[in-house]
Amino acid sequence: MLTQLTKTFQSYFATTPLVAFAPGRINLIGEHTDYQEGFVFPAAVSQGIWVGIQKNGLTVCRLHSMDFEQEFSFELDFISPKNGHWATYVMGMCALMKQSGYEVNGFDMVIGGNIPVGSGLSSSAALSVAIGTAISGLFEFQIPKKNIVLYAQKSEHLYAGVKCGIMDPYASAFGAKGKALLLDCRSNTHQEISVNLGEYSLMLVNSKVKHSLADSAYNKRREACEESVRILQAEFPQIHTLRDLKNSELEKVEKLLPPTLFPKAKHVITECNRVHDAAGALQTGDLKSFGKLLNASHQSLSIDFEVSCPELDFLAEKAQSLEFVLGSRMMGGGFGGCTINLVKTSELEQFQFIINSSYQQAFQKTPEFILVEIDEGARIL
Ligand code: GLA
Repeated sequence: MLTQLTKTFQSYFATTPLVAFAPGRINLIGEHTDYQEGFVFPAAVSQGIWVGIQKNGLTVCRLHSMDFEQEFSFELDFISPKNGHWATYVMGMCALMKQSGYEVNGFDMVIGGNIPVGSGLSSSAALSVAIGTAISGLFEFQIPKKNIVLYAQKSEHLYAGVKCGIMDPYASAFGAKGKALLLDCRSNTHQEISVNLGEYSLMLVNSKVKHSLADSAYNKRREACEESVRILQAEFPQIHTLRDLKNSELEKVEKLLPPTLFPKAKHVITECNRVHDAAGALQTGDLKSFGKLLNASHQSLSIDFEVSCPELDFLAEKAQSLEFVLGSRMMGGGFGGCTINLVKTSELEQFQFIINSSYQQAFQKTPEFILVEIDEGARIL
């Protein structure tokens, strides 16, 4: 990819670029907890986005996307990011950096990547983090990684209309080889935990569906959590988010919330606990318990939080029924994308065969299999 991107850059702009890379992410467990300042357990993968960049001495930025085979240019003094266009991520990051006082000047940029589209590996966060890393590197801004993460999140809020949490850009920026990040989304700090899976491997199954209401449903779930917090504060004045509640308080919570909100609050509260339990199980090498927590997370996301879909339920349930699979659950925002599966390495082929044929039969769709390799976070190459 690096060679290809450099070549493309040279053919378009007749000079050699500085290249930044930012990876996609998986999440072991801890879904829909980040925007409630809870805990998540993501890791960076080897697939990602490459961004080549060079100064052009103009006030214009000229962009080329290798995936879309498209060009785009914009004036730095008239940035107007529009939802739904790939260049919006570049304009969004530029706008936010400029607002923070960084003097971004004209540049040429080529963007390429190898994250399967719609897989739920968070290609948009990787794109924003790669762009931020590239611009910071080119103009020697030395922007702290955490600020690049915050710009990436804000850009998604403002210009893509998704009120996402911090997990995706954080994992892309801070990932470490062979480690998952036990991330506290209140303090925005993390602890690295080694992912030693012994005879097992992590395999993603891309359902190849993304339901059209995914973004609006995501925002609605977030609002439902915020609404629950407002109601609960009457009885629990010290809480700021659902993260502040414990499993032992669920009974009380149930009495206070309407039946439409309680299951959603319950998901967030119990999921935060599962993250800690899963990190503990991973550290002691108790993969069976770890797998059971993945299954419980799926159940909670599907039944209580209602962010799964028939395709994801099918994939998770089918995988869970196989004796050489320790755990399976939907991963990411939901309504499509991937499941994450803990599969015995010696049975990976068998796993693919069974899932492939049963999914095709049930949904007339061919799933995609992605073997996970946990790798380094964003960097200049
Ligand atoms: C998406 C969002 C994240 C997080 C997950 C669900 O990936 O971008 O912030 O909320 O969904 O865990």
